[in-house]
Amino acid sequence: MEEKTVFVTGANKGIGFGIAKHLGLAGWQVIVGARDEKRAAKAIEALKAEGIEVLGWVSVELKDPASIAQAASELGKRYPKLSLLVNNAGIPGDMSVDSAHTEIRDIRETLEVNFVGTFALTKALIPLLARNHGRIANITVPSEVSPYWHPLAYVTSKAAQNAMMGVMATEFAQSGTPLEIFSIHPGPTTTDLNGNMALPGFHDTETVGQKVAELINDGRNHQGEFIELYPIVEEK
Ligand SMILES: NC(=O)c1ccc[n+]([C@@H]2O[C@H](COP(=O)([O-])OP(=O)(O)OC[C@H]3O[C@@H](n4cnc5c(N)ncnc54)[C@H](OP(=O)(O)O)[C@@H]3O)[C@@H](O)[C@H]2O)c1
Repeated sequence: MEEKTVFVTGANKGIGFGIAKHLGLAGWQVIVGARDEKRAAKAIEALKAEGIEVLGWVSVELKDPASIAQAASELGKRYPKLSLLVNNAGIPGDMSVDSAHTEIRDIRETLEVNFVGTFALTKALIPLLARNHGRIANITVPSEVSPYWHPLAYVTSKAAQNAMMGVMATEFAQSGTPLEIFSIHPGPTTTDLNGNMALPGFHDTETVGQKVAELINDGRNHQGEFIELYPIVEEK
């Protein structure tokens, strides 16, 4: 069988773990992206217990340019066949305040992780992924402002990430770069990111991981697409 190798950031828990698990169950060799060795080891143990082929752990702290450079270099040396990057790691920022009360440092930190760090890792991996005619999948939320839910730091950081996806998809297509990039909105999912909220309309990481893996494995070209796994729940 053809070897397929994926690097999932934030694979140690939440949606990232679900995606790593279901890609693994579908035959992908998994490289766990995590920033903490113990949390990575726990995830690897759980993935292996499912019979998944885990190639290893690569440390990546998206707030740290040196860590990102080190991760990209390690991936290139140890896993030259890497063909899929799942940009999943992300933070919520402070969702409890309106924009008038949002701290500038919160805006900076959320942008740093969800956009700047994600961009830096993606940029560093473009040559390797292009050599392997690879793909990049971003896990995100819509750029449009919802009347029901609109935390400024989170939404702006993801809007920037979504713009990155659109720009890169256009450039890859125009330049003939053999790379595909697209975004997936998993919909509301019960995880640590939202304090494990489980309102009606929320999904679990198993279901979301499975749906994302099915989408990635559907054999279609998704260049430049923003894909909704579920419609956004309209609160009464
Ligand atoms: N949950 C939802 O309803 C929902 C909806 C739409 C989109 N998403 C997106 O889905 C993605 C995963 O979120 P989740 O809900 O699964 O959250 P989660 O359970 O909190 O997991 C977040 C993951 O990102 C990692 N991470 C956080 N900051 C990082 C940093 N600075 N450098 C490297 N890794 C970092 C975390 O690592 P540690 O364990 O070390 O902190 C963890 O592995 C995010 O991009 C989020 O925006 C979530």
